[in-house]
Amino acid sequence: MQKDTFFITTPIYYTNWIPHIGHAYSSLIADTIARSNKINWKKTKFSTWVDENSQKVVEKAEEKNMSISDYLDFMADEHKKVWNWLKINYTDFIRTTDKVHHKLVKEVLQKSFDNGDIYEWEYEWMYCVWCEAFKKDDDLVYLNKEKNVTFPITDKVKVNDNIIKVCPDHLKTPDTIKEKNYFFKLSKYEDKLKEFYKNNPEFVTPSDRFNEVKAFVDRWLEDFSISRETNKFWVKLPFDDTQVTYVWYDALYNYVTVTTPEWEEKKCSKSLKWYNFWPADLHVVGKDIIRFHAIYWPAMLMSAGYELPKQILTTGFMTVDWQKMSKSIWNVIDPVKYSEDYSKDMMVLYLLSAFNIGQDWDFDQKQAILTYNAKLANNFWNLVNRVVVLTIKLGLENGLKWNINKIIANDLVNYISDFDKNISKYNLKESLDLSFKFLDVLNKYVDETQPWTLIKDESKKEEVIDIFYTISEWLRQVWLNLYSFFPEKMWELFNKIGLSWYVEELEAWKIQELRNKKEVFMIKEKGEALFERFDVN
Ligand code: MSP
Repeated sequence: MQKDTFFITTPIYYTNWIPHIGHAYSSLIADTIARSNKINWKKTKFSTWVDENSQKVVEKAEEKNMSISDYLDFMADEHKKVWNWLKINYTDFIRTTDKVHHKLVKEVLQKSFDNGDIYEWEYEWMYCVWCEAFKKDDDLVYLNKEKNVTFPITDKVKVNDNIIKVCPDHLKTPDTIKEKNYFFKLSKYEDKLKEFYKNNPEFVTPSDRFNEVKAFVDRWLEDFSISRETNKFWVKLPFDDTQVTYVWYDALYNYVTVTTPEWEEKKCSKSLKWYNFWPADLHVVGKDIIRFHAIYWPAMLMSAGYELPKQILTTGFMTVDWQKMSKSIWNVIDPVKYSEDYSKDMMVLYLLSAFNIGQDWDFDQKQAILTYNAKLANNFWNLVNRVVVLTIKLGLENGLKWNINKIIANDLVNYISDFDKNISKYNLKESLDLSFKFLDVLNKYVDETQPWTLIKDESKKEEVIDIFYTISEWLRQVWLNLYSFFPEKMWELFNKIGLSWYVEELEAWKIQELRNKKEVFMIKEKGEALFERFDVN
């Protein structure tokens, strides 16, 4: 089989906060998809990053009495700590302040400038520091300060001391900015973007998000500002050193920097050098930044002569108690603390199986526990435990040998092919659902064959061994699939049945070979429970 490459990216996270469970959601999706490609013969690059170009960073550094660069170093480490703790297996971690990156940013800016795609303009606009975004009247609402209510802006009501225009998310008046900036000529790319979308009907998934993007492009494309004259410490424009980049160039081009030889030379693990990873296969991004990724980004790449990414997977938004997570209302869920209090597997199972990627949802702790108890603690773990306990009882010194009962072989074949189809399309919920459905079939098989009754009759020993081998073998197949979702637990399970080298083999891209193996299972000890039930309070 041909070894192919796969390059996946997480969104680029701001560093004025430590990642919460909403951010972890994107990284867990990317981690699962990266792993499933890796074990399927793909040389996989998985990059994550921090976006340090934010006005809020300056304020946060001041708040903490730190220099900006100390604050940025500290926060980049905090981000890494979270991802490492959650065992997010990224291959590259890049910061927007990285020198190698700045070199590329200057090169591409110059290219676009030389093409005539970047021009200077003096303008006056409103800007919400809290959103880090420009605002037009359409984006704002009126706030009646006395009554503390907001309502849409209309011509009939005039601004006065009591009625002010505010950002609907932060209820603060945006700053008015008047300055000279450089703009990117997005409008020039309208036709090219439309043609690209037509030729790449799956460029953005799920498709309803793609429809939104296309509708937006159909309405009107506005050129956008790419620089500031105020911010002192970002990348200076190569054609005007009184201006520095603002967000788009230094944030988005991170995706390309990690694939350049300069980056690979300095920061990349040896085994990933010398592969051509650009264009990216998949950008995972939230719905709030889809326009930037599906409109601005392809146009910027076209302007500088790069190939375009193959696909963008758009995630929905999670609320807690139906509200945006915010420190001021104490509803932020820390993914590390959550994993310590409950388990990482509960978080992964709930986040990846309770709803389809793209949907918005409200975090429901009761549902998370119920799903975990039903699927992992009962359906899955009970079955594993039964096989382990009863096989030990049989006292098989040479292990359980290949002796398959074909009864549910067809279910297995269908399960594996459906699983592969779904995971390759990033349908993570469906892939998990299929696995738990197949475990239901296995549980039913055990209930029908009743090996715990047969085991009492010495003359039925062969029959019992036959049943146990079949279940263990089918379980082995499920574990191979679930490895992309719950790697640590599956590793422990492979150990439990005497297949400790499996993880290494999987990480060397060998799921297909392992699937076809005829193993002997050495089950010696019961060991600790891997998935324990939690009480629902
Ligand atoms: N740095 C910018 C993106 C720049 S693109 C040029 C940014 N950073 S962020 O830290 O605010 O968000 C990073 C990602 O986390 C986004 O994809 C966003 O959608 C995702 N999420 C942030 N909060 C989330 C939830 N509550 N739920 C799901 N995803 C969330 O935007």
